[in-house]
Amino acid sequence: MEYERLPDRLETLISQSELEERIRQLAAEIDRDFAGADPLLCVGVLKGSVFFLVDLLKQVKIPVVVDFFQTASYGSGTTPGEVRIRKDIDLSIRGRDVLLIEDIVDTGYTLRTILDLFRFRGARSVRLCALLDKADAREVDVPIDYRGFTIDNIFVVGYGLDLDERYRNLPYIGVIQDDAAPETD
Ligand code: PRP
Repeated sequence: MEYERLPDRLETLISQSELEERIRQLAAEIDRDFAGADPLLCVGVLKGSVFFLVDLLKQVKIPVVVDFFQTASYGSGTTPGEVRIRKDIDLSIRGRDVLLIEDIVDTGYTLRTILDLFRFRGARSVRLCALLDKADAREVDVPIDYRGFTIDNIFVVGYGLDLDERYRNLPYIGVIQDDAAPETD
């Protein structure tokens, strides 16, 4: 069983209650900004955003529709910053207000790529919502409209964020206290 190999020592960076409180605040901001508008098209970037998206949208009261986008980056044969589309959205975004939902913005290449693509396709507006902003790691500018927390340039797991696909289901954001942990995302 894969989980038997989990390191024991995980330090909590952002607790479950802190996440819940901040997500309530973000949902209230989104409700306020999009009150009276057409249904907001919320696009989660797989896989990491799923836990955040679900909890956020359960708090949002405005009408929304949900779709997903998936990218692959930094694989073999790619150049730095080259982001490939693994799964496109199913819905049309022409003329729609779009909210892109991410668990973390690191270099910024993923969100920048999707933002530019959605604008090219004729979205009426595209706003960005990220739970975590690793601002010191940024290589390309992205305008984050709804930001949960700014964190240091450290490797974090939990609440959607993984280490080799593990830890996504932790209900908090943690830092692995293990010499083997990578230094950055
Ligand atoms: C992570 C994260 C963002 C992206 C941010 O996804 O969820 O999508 O990296 O990095 P960037 O700002 O440097 O582009 P990842 O590619 O690890 O996939 P995952 O969500 O499936 O874990």
